Amino acid sequence: MTKTPVKVAVTGAAGQICYSLLFRIASGDLLGKDQPVDLHLLEITPALKALEGVVMELDDAAFPLLNNVVTGDDANKVFDGVNVALLVGAKPRGKGMERGDLLRDNGGIFGPQGKALNDHAADDVRVLVTGNPANTNALIAMNNAPDIPNSRFNALTRLDHNRALSQLSSKTGTPTTEIKKMTIWGNHSATQYPDIFHTEIGGKNAADLIDDEAWLADTFIPTVAKRGAAIIEARGLSSAASAASATIDHMRDWIAGTPEGDWVSMAVPSDGSYGVPEGLVSSFPCVVKNGEYEIVQGLEINEFSRQRIDASVAELAEERDTVQKLGLI
Ligand code: NAD
Ligand code: LMR
Repeated sequence: MTKTPVKVAVTGAAGQICYSLLFRIASGDLLGKDQPVDLHLLEITPALKALEGVVMELDDAAFPLLNNVVTGDDANKVFDGVNVALLVGAKPRGKGMERGDLLRDNGGIFGPQGKALNDHAADDVRVLVTGNPANTNALIAMNNAPDIPNSRFNALTRLDHNRALSQLSSKTGTPTTEIKKMTIWGNHSATQYPDIFHTEIGGKNAADLIDDEAWLADTFIPTVAKRGAAIIEARGLSSAASAASATIDHMRDWIAGTPEGDWVSMAVPSDGSYGVPEGLVSSFPCVVKNGEYEIVQGLEINEFSRQRIDASVAELAEERDTVQKLGLI
């Protein structure tokens, strides 16, 4: 029996990330190879023409699972009945900028989109923000959607998580599939803290195995935290295909669950765990069962980690104060 299509909204649909993301969704990478999908694509008016071209290419790929495509520049129409919302559309940073510099330009996008989701999305909607600064944009959308449970608003730190796996893999010569329990804490920014003190490499504790605090502090953490800037420097554009892939990874795991014996990094509204003030959208180690995520509890946080988590969370609190002053929440 054919399944009912799942409606997936994607914003910024004519942009760089979506040029990869939409084709991955339509081919079944997000929801599975037996799940038909309707794409609801939002763009700003000047980009609708370019979006037409993207839709022509989606048509030309003849994806068996792609049931219908809706496009438009009105969030109230495009978000009608959507079960999944991937909020990608926002300005990327250029060379020399920090992601927080985008707050003023991009913050204004996420209030109206949160409200449109509140008024028109399906009751089971899950919202993932990729557009930067992702954590605080998710905070803005969440605060403008009073009828949607806060827990349904996430932001993307899975790209940072995947970058950390890749760096550990190169350092130790271990395939990423053998590396478990990586954690990104805090903000998707240069203050993020990739924590390997609970990570397992081939079943052994990563910090014990590597046993090199200088490498951790001076190479691993800055390489992961500043990888976005390194890509902008090299490509002249921000990461796109890897960001699309991480967006798929996050939402796929939120829907389908995380593997036994592992966890993933998700930026979720804090419930006060690990001293992160309630309500801030901060990255935590999370497991997902039956479509619901939980923050992994009971991890011991050493002094090295505590200082770094606190610094990133302090930045999130500053960003929250800024958007409060701007009247966005
Ligand atoms: P892009 O400029 O190529 O595309 C962005 C698209 O968003 C454009 O087509 C633009 O017209 C559209 N857009 C702008 N305002 C919109 C609105 N109000 N509604 C709908 N669409 C709108 O940028 P990109 O490379 O695709 O990146 C998109 C965002 O994702 C940027 O903010 C970037 O910094 C961020 N990003 C985040 C991560 C992460 O890990 N969280 C990784 C990479 C990029
Ligand atoms: C990334 O991490 O690649 C994105 O957030 C883009 C950026 O501005 O770094």
